Amino acid sequence: MPDKTASRFDSEAATWDSNPTTVRSSALFFDAIKARFPQLARGAEKKKRALEIGCGTGLLSVHLAPLLDEYLCFDPSQGMIDVLESKIPSLPSGTHLKAFKELLTEPDSPSLGGKGVDYAFSHLTLHHIPDMQSSIDCLAATLNPGGFLIMSDFEHSPTSELFHPKHKHHDVERHGVVGDEIRGMMEKAGLKGVKVEHSFDLPKSVEGGSERDFAFLICMGRKQ
Ligand SMILES: C[S@@+](CC[C@H](N)C(=O)[O-])C[C@H]1O[C@@H](n2cnc3c(N)ncnc32)[C@H](O)[C@@H]1O
Repeated sequence: MPDKTASRFDSEAATWDSNPTTVRSSALFFDAIKARFPQLARGAEKKKRALEIGCGTGLLSVHLAPLLDEYLCFDPSQGMIDVLESKIPSLPSGTHLKAFKELLTEPDSPSLGGKGVDYAFSHLTLHHIPDMQSSIDCLAATLNPGGFLIMSDFEHSPTSELFHPKHKHHDVERHGVVGDEIRGMMEKAGLKGVKVEHSFDLPKSVEGGSERDFAFLICMGRKQ
């Protein structure tokens, strides 16, 4: 991640959770996950291990971590990781969440402790990743057999550049993701049963003061 992007997220970290739209997007993705993975929702995955890349302040992580045995959070921004770490003491007892200031680029990163994961998540992060195929390959390689890669981001459209105000455009790699491209990358990474589908619409204020709905995709695949 270029330094300017890291410093943007470092400086936004302290106020990240005060944006109700951002908080809502993670809550909506959490609902989308629970609807499609009922075993997680009913607490039947408490012995499973997970990771998340681009976790930010942990808006999604704090929902998912209590449902799993161990939850490893990765983000290249120290500011984001500091905010997430400040939340750890107030998580439900028995929650094992660890945060790493790290771009996870290798499946044998020491942070993974020599073990795979059963779930790998990301939310609102793909649009920041320069080489999505490498990241998806890496995430697929971290999965145990039977493990799931579950990613979410806003969908590219003729108006999706409105998602970010113009002064942030230099900080993003793309204005949303294209479902067919992500599906192809997940299949190329060897994942099976890949599904990419609409998961929710997020109403968001845009430059100029009006509000737009942005469609989000959920991208899911399983390692055999
Ligand atoms: C839009 S924020 C989303 C944070 C969090 N997932 C949320 O929904 O609140 C994107 C996050 O991805 C991180 N990031 C930026 N570039 C990245 C990359 N190449 N790989 C992984 N994470 C990255 C940023 O530091 C930031 O925390």
